[in-house]
Amino acid sequence: MADYKAIYQTKLTTAEQVAQQVQSGWVIGMDAGPTQTPAIIAAMAEKIRATDTKDVKVHTMLDSYPFAFYEDNTLFGKMTGYSWFSSGGARKAVNGGYADLFPAYYRDIPGHIKRLYDFDAYCVAVSPMDSHGYFSLATTSSYSEAMISKAKRIFIEVNEKQPRCLCGTQIHVSQVDAIVENTHDIPVLPPVVIDDVSRTIGNLIAEQIPDGACIQLGIGAIPDATGMALKTKHDLGIHTEMFTDSMVELLECGAVNNSKKQIHRGKTVTTFAFGSQRIYDYINDNPCFEILPVDYVNDPNVICQNDNMISINAALEVDLFGQVCAESVGTKHMSGSGGQIDYVRGACQSKGGKSFIAFSSTAKGGTISKIKSILTPGAIVTTSKNDVDYIVTEYGIAHLRGESLGSRARQLISIAHPDFRDELTFEAKKRGILV
Ligand code: COA
Repeated sequence: MADYKAIYQTKLTTAEQVAQQVQSGWVIGMDAGPTQTPAIIAAMAEKIRATDTKDVKVHTMLDSYPFAFYEDNTLFGKMTGYSWFSSGGARKAVNGGYADLFPAYYRDIPGHIKRLYDFDAYCVAVSPMDSHGYFSLATTSSYSEAMISKAKRIFIEVNEKQPRCLCGTQIHVSQVDAIVENTHDIPVLPPVVIDDVSRTIGNLIAEQIPDGACIQLGIGAIPDATGMALKTKHDLGIHTEMFTDSMVELLECGAVNNSKKQIHRGKTVTTFAFGSQRIYDYINDNPCFEILPVDYVNDPNVICQNDNMISINAALEVDLFGQVCAESVGTKHMSGSGGQIDYVRGACQSKGGKSFIAFSSTAKGGTISKIKSILTPGAIVTTSKNDVDYIVTEYGIAHLRGESLGSRARQLISIAHPDFRDELTFEAKKRGILV
């Protein structure tokens, strides 16, 4: 066997040394969440700030560190962030006009990358090298393989605290150009606060989920509350985009055992994991856990192969046609499409499958109805009226797929907050949707 430890040593360097390589015009790629590289990116930002280096573009998704190009608008044009799905810093920077965004279905991102982009460097945080010279890309598979295939250089940060995913994307030491050691706690998401409204919604959806179903839970308090409401179920499976805390809970209490899945039986399948340390401990060296590329995991034709596939995602507002906005509040950018539509379609194509879009009936202390006659100007449609299936609030469940406009309006008004039902009925009648 080759002496991988010796090869490792020849590539070992510092973040500052790596940063010296950056040139004007470079395109740098990173994937989602905890596999981003804080030390290398911080050193690059310092070098770029201190020199006349310009036009460096950094692709990110779900940024999990306070990156300089999203925090500091004076770097715009010198080092600029391009987000494939924004949150935190990217959300602020996109709204501030000093970062850009790629609209895309998550499942399509690897294809877009392969067709359109070349990377001067791909940066990734990994777990320590194994005896065969491989580093696990820990919590994320997502579009990493696509970026690796289009990258001239690969810079890694080895973090002893990154979990090792046995069934996930790996990089071999021979592929790597520079290694920086940077052991630190992996970023965690703040625990989701589950209030009474989320709990009610979670319980309503849980009543619709049979034992043996396969679930996907999206981002936010309501998907998590639904997860917690499933603890009394049996033989559930998981095929999801993001692996979350409530899923660990379901696995550990035995409600999920993946025994009834048609594909990947016995295995939990996801494309990335992000949440508490409990998640990272769960992934580590777990042979029943697969973190696979998103063009596979989020393909509706793959998702639908599991019977009784149930997807649960959140939204910001819905109009009376059932058009779902999950990305903006009017013109204020909030998020990306992510995999919402991938799972709406996959679940609806699955035998016995259902897709739920769930949200509290009001926002801003009850002053705004999230069910609207028409969407707020500027609102982005994430799930179309033709794809939408079930809409859920704390007042009940509306089934829209295949239903007429009149039926949709009637059902949606019946699950709107009572304070807004008269106004919505008046608007619906004025528009001729309700007679
Ligand atoms: N009008 C005005 N403000 C609204 C609003 C509305 N209709 N709906 C929500 N808001 C505000 C909330 O009050 C909250 O404000 P705050 O931050 O000041 O408290 C903020 O917008 C976020 O709303 P909230 O309901 O708490 O969002 P969430 O954390 O549950 O996330 C999405 C909801 C839609 C943003 C999130 O699910 C998402 O990013 N989805 C992307 C698409 C997707 O589903 N992908 C699949 C995921 S795996």
